[in-house]
Amino acid sequence: MLRRTLDHGLLSEARELKLLDHHLWGLLHFKTSAFDFVGEIASGSALLVGEGNLSFTQSLTRKNRIDPRNLTATTFEPHSELTDETQARAAKLKRLGVNLLHAVNATNLAASLGLRSYNSIIFQFPHTGSREPANGRNPNFVLLYRFLKSAKGHLRPNGKIFVTLVNSSHYTGAFQCEEAAKRAGLQPPEVYAFDPKAFSGYEHRMAHEDAGAIQHHRQFSTWVFRK
Ligand SMILES: C[S@@+](CC[C@H](N)C(=O)[O-])C[C@H]1O[C@@H](n2cnc3c(N)ncnc32)[C@H](O)[C@@H]1O
Repeated sequence: MLRRTLDHGLLSEARELKLLDHHLWGLLHFKTSAFDFVGEIASGSALLVGEGNLSFTQSLTRKNRIDPRNLTATTFEPHSELTDETQARAAKLKRLGVNLLHAVNATNLAASLGLRSYNSIIFQFPHTGSREPANGRNPNFVLLYRFLKSAKGHLRPNGKIFVTLVNSSHYTGAFQCEEAAKRAGLQPPEVYAFDPKAFSGYEHRMAHEDAGAIQHHRQFSTWVFRK
């Protein structure tokens, strides 16, 4: 069907079909079985990248099962560029024993982390904040693929990478998780429902907007990648 659409010169329709194709892949592989995200994070050392306002990390420290000393939380922005509120949250997390690092690029973790490895590596709602194609590809696909490739080198044996996204054809089409995994040399991902209500105080913010994605969307998925 995609080929026939392309043969007829219907490029925008073909693009739409491709988006739907990725969304259908996610729906077909969606696991309805229970997924214990907190249990996974609690089971060993965890690295969080692109943490933005650090509210997801803070919500994890409120879970009894999680020892804050096993968490390494990182922001892409240098410390000086964080808001006063986020700097205050960072100081609070540090006092709880969380290891905090700033100016960490998820696509080049070795530059900040050297050879350190983790049981879980987590990126909640990755987004470049841009829609400009990079090398002819969606920039968010490029961010995800490069992050997976970099994170793969910092996983302990049986370690897992977790990426949470809005569950819509727009987002799954932009990130193309199954293709990013294949390119990064990882197994096909599994997809589970993500419930933000289970993480009290988590205030997810869109990359360049004030409005939070959680308020604007209803369904979210956590994609789980393994070597
Ligand atoms: C939509 S926000 C999500 C923030 C946070 N994870 C949350 O769930 O609230 C996207 C985040 O991705 C980060 N980001 C973009 N490119 C990145 C990169 N190359 N490495 C690390 N983080 C990056 C941004 O700084 C921003 O904080």
